[in-house]
Amino acid sequence: MATRLKQEKEQRRMYSELVWTWPIISPKEDYIKPAKEFVAMIKDSSLIKTKTLLHLGCGGGHFDYTFKKYFKVSGVDISPGMLGLARKLNPEVNYLIGDMRNLKLRNEFDAVIIADSISYMLNERDLQKTFKTAFNHLKPGGVFATYAEETKERFKHNSIYTTTHKQGNTEITLIENLYDAIPDDTLFESAFVYLIRKKGSLTIETDYHILGLFSYNVWLKLLRKTGFKVIEKDFFKEKIPGFIGIKL
Ligand SMILES: C[S@@+](CC[C@H](N)C(=O)[O-])C[C@H]1O[C@@H](n2cnc3c(N)ncnc32)[C@H](O)[C@@H]1O
Repeated sequence: MATRLKQEKEQRRMYSELVWTWPIISPKEDYIKPAKEFVAMIKDSSLIKTKTLLHLGCGGGHFDYTFKKYFKVSGVDISPGMLGLARKLNPEVNYLIGDMRNLKLRNEFDAVIIADSISYMLNERDLQKTFKTAFNHLKPGGVFATYAEETKERFKHNSIYTTTHKQGNTEITLIENLYDAIPDDTLFESAFVYLIRKKGSLTIETDYHILGLFSYNVWLKLLRKTGFKVIEKDFFKEKIPGFIGIKL
């Protein structure tokens, strides 16, 4: 237990002191196709004309790089470092610091998106609060789009993923391990090892994220309880379970 608490304190270096690695390890070009899929789904399902978009958990703005071509975008994230990257990449987007669980803006939007940041909701209460944030910031007839990167049903315990990217003289190999230490709770661990080579000279960094794991039916139940009319839809080429919530 003591070790886990220590690790929790050290988590998410990816969005703080290692934030400079983000444009290298997760290139913006990789987001163009999925972002266009999001745009098409929103335009197809909305009952109103979609001109404004709120992106919760926008991170470094790699999705917004495409979204801004189709919508007037506002982005919210909890990490100042990630927002710094986003502002540099998308100066025309309105970026704000905030927590998706309790955000209260004055404006309402035609569409709300949460992509790869909703995994940071660690229990049903926070997932529901986040859905409520999306609902409260939508105009009637507008749509909310999100997806469950991992569900209890799809999760592969102790799986390992490796990527290598290079930018200029810097090459980063990232090794990620997904681990469900306690299958009865709603958490899993994502542990990272970074092999960073600058002009061939190696530095090794580590990082640790705790993420939420729910069954598919929990996602559906909470979205409906929030008030959305839900369309179930697989997202992207990986067929990730996704949801379009319409605010009637
Ligand atoms: C994988 S990154 C998103 C990257 C993003 N898709 C991009 O295009 O760069 C996940 C993001 O979720 C943010 N996040 C985590 N918990 C949050 C919360 N409660 N409210 C807002 N943002 C949160 C993190 O700060 C991080 O920037």
